[in-house]
Amino acid sequence: MVQNGQVFKILVVDDEMSMRELLEILLLKHGYDVRCAESGSSGIEAIRSDPPDLVITDIRMEPVNGIEVLKKCKAVSPRTIVIMISAYASTELAVEAMNEGAYDYFPKPFNNEELLSVISNALRNRGEEQSVSDSREGLLYFGCLIGESAPMLKVYETIQRVAKTGSNVVITGESGTGKELVARAIHRQSARRDRPLVIVNCGGVPENLVESELFGYRKGAFTGAASDRKGLVEAARGGTLFLDEIGELTPVLQVKLLRLVQDKTIKMVGGTEEIPVDVRIISATNRDLERMVMEKTFREDLYYRLNVLHIRVPPLRDRREDIPVLARYFLSKFTKDLGKEIHKVSSYAMDILCNYEFPGNVRELEHIIERGVAMESSRIILPDSLTLSMHRRKEQERTVPAVRSEIPIENFDLDKHMAEIERRMLQQALSQAGGVKLKAARLLGISFRSFRYRLLKHELATEDELKEE
Ligand SMILES: Nc1ncnc2c1ncn2[C@@H]1O[C@H](COP(=O)(O)OP(=O)(O)OP(=O)(O)O)[C@@H](O)[C@H]1O
Ligand SMILES: [Mg+2]
Repeated sequence: MVQNGQVFKILVVDDEMSMRELLEILLLKHGYDVRCAESGSSGIEAIRSDPPDLVITDIRMEPVNGIEVLKKCKAVSPRTIVIMISAYASTELAVEAMNEGAYDYFPKPFNNEELLSVISNALRNRGEEQSVSDSREGLLYFGCLIGESAPMLKVYETIQRVAKTGSNVVITGESGTGKELVARAIHRQSARRDRPLVIVNCGGVPENLVESELFGYRKGAFTGAASDRKGLVEAARGGTLFLDEIGELTPVLQVKLLRLVQDKTIKMVGGTEEIPVDVRIISATNRDLERMVMEKTFREDLYYRLNVLHIRVPPLRDRREDIPVLARYFLSKFTKDLGKEIHKVSSYAMDILCNYEFPGNVRELEHIIERGVAMESSRIILPDSLTLSMHRRKEQERTVPAVRSEIPIENFDLDKHMAEIERRMLQQALSQAGGVKLKAARLLGISFRSFRYRLLKHELATEDELKEE
């Protein structure tokens, strides 16, 4: 291919004639200057006599194999890019090749388009352009957000606009898209940045607990309320209150929240006095609030007061350009954290990632890379280190079942399933027992100690809260 007026030279080394011919025709057709060698030793000779810009070499050849070609090539002409191909999907050989400095590895049969795109990217990125693009990569917006796809740039623009106003904001988007990061970014950019940002999760906790958490309680309001305690709304005074999972708020709490939003006052549980509080409210949900309003499960008046401004964070599959940037960002983060030397996600693995549906969005990508880094023994992330669920492609089902009675054929995780059931039973017991833990434990037929331990495990209560009781 001609890039910037330059014709690139490519050498193909393979002992299989049909493969040499196929590659030669393909590459000639795309404007490359192609030479072929039918053995490892003749390949090395060709590199010595006239170093090419790029070498594509088979790995398994006798007596001189592709790894030897790669090593010699790196010694003679370090700037030459080497791409390995192999009919045997041998991970060990691939790992060795990557560790010796191969640019990429393709198992046969490979997709011609993919190979061509890797070649043209590799050649384009060589030299100065590489360092420029590298330094730009992983650019952090507002100190926490990554990604420069058009939909994300629009989100950043909105964040900036929204931050300047003091109005309430609703952030919507699927789970794991980065709603909490967006809320933090808004707070950080706003005039309230020196005041606290307090995060409250409205879901998964019984109504009375959320109420006392939010608004605090007066001494004697309920058994165990030994003294007055301020709530989180007051803790956020002058700052921002981030209400996560707002769609989970019960009707009773919706009314109490409306009082805060409308009159800017709160009443503590067990109190009568109206206490004025100034907070900006940012809410987030992965539910369709408008629909909840229509179905009358969410108060319309509250909805309009919370949703003065609206930010929608797009799912990762609608901004696939961000996948490689995010993957590399998480790679560098986790290699540092885990003290590993992994410098790249192989393009084959990256291709799988780029075609994956990501039902769990950025959070899922983050976990995949974290596991990949932990599992990988070479210096590059190969497809084998990506968790199996990865290989589910676009066309496959994208919902992650919460609790289901039928065992799915793929990707079932018994431990996760059981943990989810346990968590739900704890919540149900708490709510049935009106928040009284001893009673809830009894309902579940377990000891109080065991109950407390499980609450902590599922983060349904904190150490401090349990101590206070
Ligand atoms: N654009 C991004 N850049 C860097 N990291 C991100 C980005 N978006 C999300 N993350 C990371 O992904 C994870 C999930 O993000 P976050 O908690 O903000 O999602 P969420 O939308 O609030 O999810 P949920 O609805 O499940 O609460 C976090 O670890 C976060 O740091
Ligand atoms: Mg969240």
